[in-house]
Amino acid sequence: MHVLVTGANGFIGRALTRRLLNDAVKPGGLAPIDRLTLVDLNFEGPDIPRVRRLSGSIGDPAVVARAFDTPVDVLFHLASIPGGAAEQNFDLGRQINLNATFDLLEASRAQAVGSERPVTFVFASSIAVLGSPLPAWVDDATPLRPTLSYGAQKLIGEVMAEDYHRRGWIRLRSVRLPGIVARPPQRTGQLSAFMSDIIRELSAGRPFACPVAADSTTWLMSVPRVVDNFLHAALMPASACGETRVWTLPALHSSMAQLVAAIAEVHGSEVLGRVSYGSNPSLEANFGRYPPLRTPAADAAGFAHDGDLPNLVRRALEPLT
Ligand SMILES: NC(=O)c1ccc[n+]([C@@H]2O[C@H](COP(=O)([O-])OP(=O)(O)OC[C@H]3O[C@@H](n4cnc5c(N)ncnc54)[C@H](O)[C@@H]3O)[C@@H](O)[C@H]2O)c1
Repeated sequence: MHVLVTGANGFIGRALTRRLLNDAVKPGGLAPIDRLTLVDLNFEGPDIPRVRRLSGSIGDPAVVARAFDTPVDVLFHLASIPGGAAEQNFDLGRQINLNATFDLLEASRAQAVGSERPVTFVFASSIAVLGSPLPAWVDDATPLRPTLSYGAQKLIGEVMAEDYHRRGWIRLRSVRLPGIVARPPQRTGQLSAFMSDIIRELSAGRPFACPVAADSTTWLMSVPRVVDNFLHAALMPASACGETRVWTLPALHSSMAQLVAAIAEVHGSEVLGRVSYGSNPSLEANFGRYPPLRTPAADAAGFAHDGDLPNLVRRALEPLT
């Protein structure tokens, strides 16, 4: 079993890698993993036994060739230029979110054609494919009208990957992620970072000036739960997939005030006095007007959200295990 993770040094990539390393020794996981290849622009820290780290860009054909130098069984494609950065730098977003995804699909195709061993290609898509404004509620039939270049690039990636799947060149599992929390406080271009900051700062006993109004609504999932869902995507048999290979993941629908109430339930009522609310029109338009969400295809396929908001708050800050 050769598992390849792109974007492995990112927020979700690090959590996924930890879990892969821990689960590799447990029954029912992706075990046994003989080879784990991680790709990212840079890695910090000492080498990890049994892990091959490739520092470089997925836009570099030599890096992709090295990643595929032994056949890949499961590819978690997480590397991407985030929404804010892709909006500021269209060419970079196109090169990485679009062209490099295409190059990974081509490498997967070459493997399938040469060895009849198709890669299970797990693609990290995004609810940004839906665009904004959204209708009164969202379900699996809601039209996809991305309003950021990032969302457009993710949608094109989904469509390309579906065609490679239809042709038998990959086994596709695309998952559209909601807002994943709680991201560490580095600024890496995520416009939605405030959703993580509010949980982390208030939970730590610090004040927080929320940039959007108290009644702004969003869709959330904790990072351990999204890792569960990535592993489920990789492991689920084709018979469990149903008609589609692209799922909008279930998420908890919450207003900022409800999220703060859940943080207060977990960390004490003093939390309520430490938050203030602003009104940033652009953030509210992109991240603060999410209506109720129904995800019947993902529910039927066994994907899950965090259950309730206090559970999400607890899990969001769990140390990576
Ligand atoms: N975190 C969220 O809330 C969220 C929501 C929706 C979708 N997603 C998607 O999930 C995936 C992982 O998200 P994340 O939050 O961990 O993002 P992140 O930005 O923390 O991590 C992405 C990683 O990709 C790497 N990367 C960027 N360009 C690269 C390149 N050219 N070559 C190799 N690596 C490169 C970055 O260095 C970074 O470590 C992304 O595809 C993202 O679009 C995340």
